Amino acid sequence: MTLWGGRFEGSMSGETWDFTVDHSDRRLLEVDILGSMAHAGMLGSTGIIPHEDVASMMEGLAVILEEARAGTFEFTETDEDVHTAVERHLGEVIGPTAGMLHTGRSRNDQVATDLRLYLRASGQDRIDQIKTVGLVLVDISQRHAGTVVSTYTHLQQAQSTTLGNHLLAHTWALLRDLERLTDCIERLNQSPLGAGASAGSSLGVDREHTAGSLGFTRPMPNTLDAVGSRDFVAEYVFVCAQTMADLSRLAEEIVLWSTREFGWVTLSDGVSTGSSALPHKRNPDLAELIRGRAASVAGDVTAILGLQKGLPLTYNRDLQEDKRIVFHADDTLAGALVGMTTLLGGLEFHPPVPSAEVATLDLTDALVTRGVPFREAHGIVGKVVRGLEDQQRSLEDLTDDDLAEADERFQPGDADLLDPATSAAGRETEASVRSQIEELRDRFR
Ligand code: ARG
Repeated sequence: MTLWGGRFEGSMSGETWDFTVDHSDRRLLEVDILGSMAHAGMLGSTGIIPHEDVASMMEGLAVILEEARAGTFEFTETDEDVHTAVERHLGEVIGPTAGMLHTGRSRNDQVATDLRLYLRASGQDRIDQIKTVGLVLVDISQRHAGTVVSTYTHLQQAQSTTLGNHLLAHTWALLRDLERLTDCIERLNQSPLGAGASAGSSLGVDREHTAGSLGFTRPMPNTLDAVGSRDFVAEYVFVCAQTMADLSRLAEEIVLWSTREFGWVTLSDGVSTGSSALPHKRNPDLAELIRGRAASVAGDVTAILGLQKGLPLTYNRDLQEDKRIVFHADDTLAGALVGMTTLLGGLEFHPPVPSAEVATLDLTDALVTRGVPFREAHGIVGKVVRGLEDQQRSLEDLTDDDLAEADERFQPGDADLLDPATSAAGRETEASVRSQIEELRDRFR
């Protein structure tokens, strides 16, 4: 069924029909009914439609809402979209009065309203999921607040830190994703309803009323903007893509850490997969798939921007495509957040102590505190490192005598500065980790 038969004699071929219809909007069913209830309520309170007709529509919509929630609502192949399906079924439930429901509105303001309601709710779900991952990371960080590891720059060992501090870096990134999502929801929480097809209605619809009953902060002031804009969808998709990118970076490190070469972590059986060919394999597929799926969500950002860029105001049918894009981004993120929570629960960390190299800056700084210019001190320590390399000795074997020979400003005890744990302690890493944990726990609660 279509809502627009009147001016047509012929009809579309089945193939053409299939091309124009996109069933992915069926997941808007529940919010579409809630939007219709708010609209019908307003039609009654303004007196645009007599109370008894509104009451009948409300009863019918309540029945349909229950069906939607129970999963028993039946779509037909001939419903052009979710809005049509609801109006069609309302007719089956209450008869011709259903034809009054579309008074003073259009599918253009309806679909924009539905999508805002949907993303407001799904965004909240994603926020809760991000909090779960964040808290798991905080717990692991707490257990490893003092476990010394190396940081990496250029994927080469750089300075000592603790595993807790390293994992908290990922956690802060997730907190910012959560904040971005919160901002996005706040910005999209305005009502397009009553904008009609583009420039409103002469029937005296009360836009404040519908905005209020749907929990929006206010009606969008410009009706052309209300039906034609999709920047709220693009923003949502970007936040999904950035969150996927952040999960992907963590996933990549888990893959790296689980290698024999790194040996930082063992994956439990529940989060590992085997190889059909190689009997010894324990593969980190879960992490790899999170990393892999971040790619297509990054693509969704391009898609939603491309969808908007050439469109004249106001509504154009192109906009129907926004739903596939944002649902794909949102579903992929939802799955990845579940996957990451599971994966983190299956990690057993046992990172090896890093090499003494991670403390060469401490040796340099010792000279600096004795008045040696940093650049000169850097050169002196560099020569010490090279000298050991020439003798095929490692930094771990360095003695105070070696140092005294290299420069008279070294002092007895300086060789001990090359201990990675002492080095991390010198920068109060553990104390910092504890205060970060406190703040993050608070933010993720
Ligand atoms: N299915 C359409 C969409 O998702 C609903 C709006 C259709 N409006 C129209 N004038 N054809 O965008």
